Amino acid sequence: MKKLVIKNLHVSVEEKEILKGLDLVVNEGEVVAVLGPNGHGKSTLLNAIMGNPRYKVTEGEIFLDDQNVLEMSVDERSKAGLFLAFQTPAEIPGVNSSEFLKAAINEHNEKRLSLYQFYKVLDTASKEVNIPFEMFNRNLNDGFSGGEKKRNEILQMMLLNPNIAMLDEIDSGLDVDAINTVSDCINKQHKEKGTGFLIISHYARLFELVKPTRTVVIVNGKVVCEGGPEIYKKIDKFGYEWIKKEYGVSIEKEEQPMNKVSLGTCATKEVITNGNK
Ligand SMILES: Nc1ncnc2c1ncn2[C@@H]1O[C@H](COP(=O)(O)OP(=O)(O)OP(=O)(O)O)[C@@H](O)[C@H]1O
Ligand SMILES: [Mg+2]
Repeated sequence: MKKLVIKNLHVSVEEKEILKGLDLVVNEGEVVAVLGPNGHGKSTLLNAIMGNPRYKVTEGEIFLDDQNVLEMSVDERSKAGLFLAFQTPAEIPGVNSSEFLKAAINEHNEKRLSLYQFYKVLDTASKEVNIPFEMFNRNLNDGFSGGEKKRNEILQMMLLNPNIAMLDEIDSGLDVDAINTVSDCINKQHKEKGTGFLIISHYARLFELVKPTRTVVIVNGKVVCEGGPEIYKKIDKFGYEWIKKEYGVSIEKEEQPMNKVSLGTCATKEVITNGNK
């Protein structure tokens, strides 16, 4: 079990600052629910923690116990016990699923698993997450349905057994039965292995099943409020308007890139229309 500490984190994507001094702690074995309006930096946070090179950390620090995460490669972060289940898992056509999983497990464990041991572990995990075993003969996520991709992310989490698992909208695209299955897996991982969680979701349904120990809300690239389940329940019912009033934050709307051509076309059209009046 490890503690993740993030201080004054600033992250830019394509020269645009998305996280603007974010502070967050995930204590050992904690389950933290993360909410926030679209485009306010939730996935950016998880990607920056995992070391995705597109997300540039310009200021601040991230520590996993006494390890300086920002000085580590993605590979080292993964071996140190960080895991990210992607909001949109990529399809990797050239890579066989079971080969990928075997390589990932063997990279993480000091002792390599025999082929027999690996298939036993995979068979158990695939039953828990309800993925037919035959799917592992296919290429990674290649042609998997939305829900199958998400369940495959959870299976990877179970096999890699991280200290901190970060799940980015793991519930999106899951049918009702699959949400129950996935939450059972999360709860088991938490209870039996003591894994800490950072779980992003827009909906209370998942949180009602995994019972987070804390809820945090990210607005404009910062954590603006923290508390108990009452926060995600209120957001589920009323949206984010009340946060503006209660916490005195203005929720910036995402800037839409201005297209000069279409602006010109509209302006011309307006002149013609007005001119015809
Ligand atoms: N590769 C990129 N290039 C340009 N802008 C990006 C890139 N990745 C993210 N952004 C921008 O960063 C901002 C924050 O995105 P992020 O994915 O962190 O939002 P989010 O809070 O996870 O939203 P959602 O709830 O919709 O998943 C958005 O305005 C997004 O368009
Ligand atoms: Mg996101």
